[in-house]
Amino acid sequence: MKLWLDTANIDEIRAAARFGVVSGVTTNPSLWAKAASGADYRDVVLEICSIIDGPVSAECLAQDVDGLVEEARNISKWHPNVVVKIPLDENGLEAIHRVSREGIKVNTTLIFQPNQALLAAQAGATYVSPFVGRLDDIGQEGMAVVREIVEIFDRYHLPTQVLAASLRHPLHVVQAAKASAHIATMPYTVFQAMFKHPLTDAGIQKFLEDARKAAKVKA
Ligand code: G3P
Repeated sequence: MKLWLDTANIDEIRAAARFGVVSGVTTNPSLWAKAASGADYRDVVLEICSIIDGPVSAECLAQDVDGLVEEARNISKWHPNVVVKIPLDENGLEAIHRVSREGIKVNTTLIFQPNQALLAAQAGATYVSPFVGRLDDIGQEGMAVVREIVEIFDRYHLPTQVLAASLRHPLHVVQAAKASAHIATMPYTVFQAMFKHPLTDAGIQKFLEDARKAAKVKA
């Protein structure tokens, strides 16, 4: 499973990039607003592309099919790594079908049930993004949707990749990996939590103390 960051915060992306384990980034208007950099969305996405050499998702906002198609064409020209995000409603599905035929890569966003993923895959989307945390928020098991989509895509050999999104804590990452999601996109705080364990910190301290003691005995 690939690890992507779900943020438009350039400092977070730079901080995570140094480990060489983050291979893509997802953004949306809310994340752009949260980053509050004052920069234009296109400039933010281009800066992300200069840091991470992998797919970078940028969201379309048009409400009608022609508008979505035009926006997707425009956004896809920003950079070769840019993937356009289109939400899965009726207009979104038609737009996904039209732009995918032109070779534009689509990350289908706001997926909450397997039928939406099945439709997006048949329409030619490169990725589907089930929103796990938002389903958990309303008392449904979000990860169950990831599992179902993976099972369906595997059974019918659909090439669309399952991108587990709206992950809120490190256990979601483990669960996404066990569900065989192709990608997990996560906030920087969740990424940081992946490395942490109190026994690791305590173990490092103990080894240091013991090394100091051993060095004194030797001297
Ligand atoms: O990738 C989708 C993500 O940004 C949504 O996360 O936490 O707003 O549900 P959240």
